[in-house]
Amino acid sequence: MRKLKLSLIFALCFLILFVSAGYAEEIHVAVIGKSVHPYWAEVELGVKKAAEDLGVKATFFVPQKEDIQAQISQMESFIAMGVDGIAIAPSDPTALAPTIATAMSKGIPVITLDTDAPESERIAYIGTDNYSAGKLAGQVMSQLLGPEGGKVAIGTGSLTAMNSLERMRGFTDGIADNENIVVVTKPALCDFEDTGRAVTLVEQALLTYPDLKGFFGVYAINGPAAAKAIKTAGKVGEVLVVCFDTTAEHMQLIKEGAIAATIGQRPYMMGYKSVELLSKMVADGVDAALAELPEDRIVDTGVDVVAADAYVETLRVLEADSVEEYREKLIGLGIPVEGW
Ligand code: BGC
Repeated sequence: MRKLKLSLIFALCFLILFVSAGYAEEIHVAVIGKSVHPYWAEVELGVKKAAEDLGVKATFFVPQKEDIQAQISQMESFIAMGVDGIAIAPSDPTALAPTIATAMSKGIPVITLDTDAPESERIAYIGTDNYSAGKLAGQVMSQLLGPEGGKVAIGTGSLTAMNSLERMRGFTDGIADNENIVVVTKPALCDFEDTGRAVTLVEQALLTYPDLKGFFGVYAINGPAAAKAIKTAGKVGEVLVVCFDTTAEHMQLIKEGAIAATIGQRPYMMGYKSVELLSKMVADGVDAALAELPEDRIVDTGVDVVAADAYVETLRVLEADSVEEYREKLIGLGIPVEGW
């Protein structure tokens, strides 16, 4: 009997050690995003998949909408809980820097995802190169409006997050060679990732500038918000929307032609790679994890230009894909395509 018990215990230990494909000891990492939105649901999908693949625990949190204080409090709770690593998308890099420093001083590695805080003590950044992606959006707008240009409005969800600021800086450079494009919203219309507010701001802009020719939507919230307001005003095709992201809602509006083109980020990859990198830092040490990263510690997850059928040929010079070509590309990259 005793022998049987012992062999059972051995068998159990063996199972525990070898069944989980990932790390032997339970690693717990936390990921903090910026708002409740399908974009962040895609990040969460990547987070969950990586946790499953690696056999680690990953907790995901987003505030209702842009909320710097909520990010700070949640990060403080994660530090107090003693999580092993944190990935955060700081809504304000300056405001989050002291909390990032606190985590690091307690031996909790911190990385940023989606939007960076390069002046903080964060170890690495995983996400879009936002300046280049913004510049690409500007070139797309310029190409679509042609030499006649026209008035363009800009809507964003944040005037502090670095990804928003970098995209707008890039956009300005992207349209620079077309002197007939005039940006009329200075500063950009800001909704703090509140969808209702985002739509209202576009409605107001359409009234203020009846001859508006283009709208640049900086965040995932802004493109669909603009498209909705433009549809209601009966101005589809008259005011062209160039925006960011490829949620199911974006893809539907692109198919309708209400969004002319969008810069598709890879939020699933941002989530997946964040958990992967943090887990490696915890299991093998920060130096070993860094040895696998580029020297600047920036992991560029890449972007794609996706255009509505009516505009895709005009945008081939910028390597635009049609909706179907984009779908194939995502599948090839191992990114799940859901809802469109
Ligand atoms: C941005 C995120 C933002 C999201 C939702 C994305 O384009 O990268 O920072 O939270 O849009 O609006």
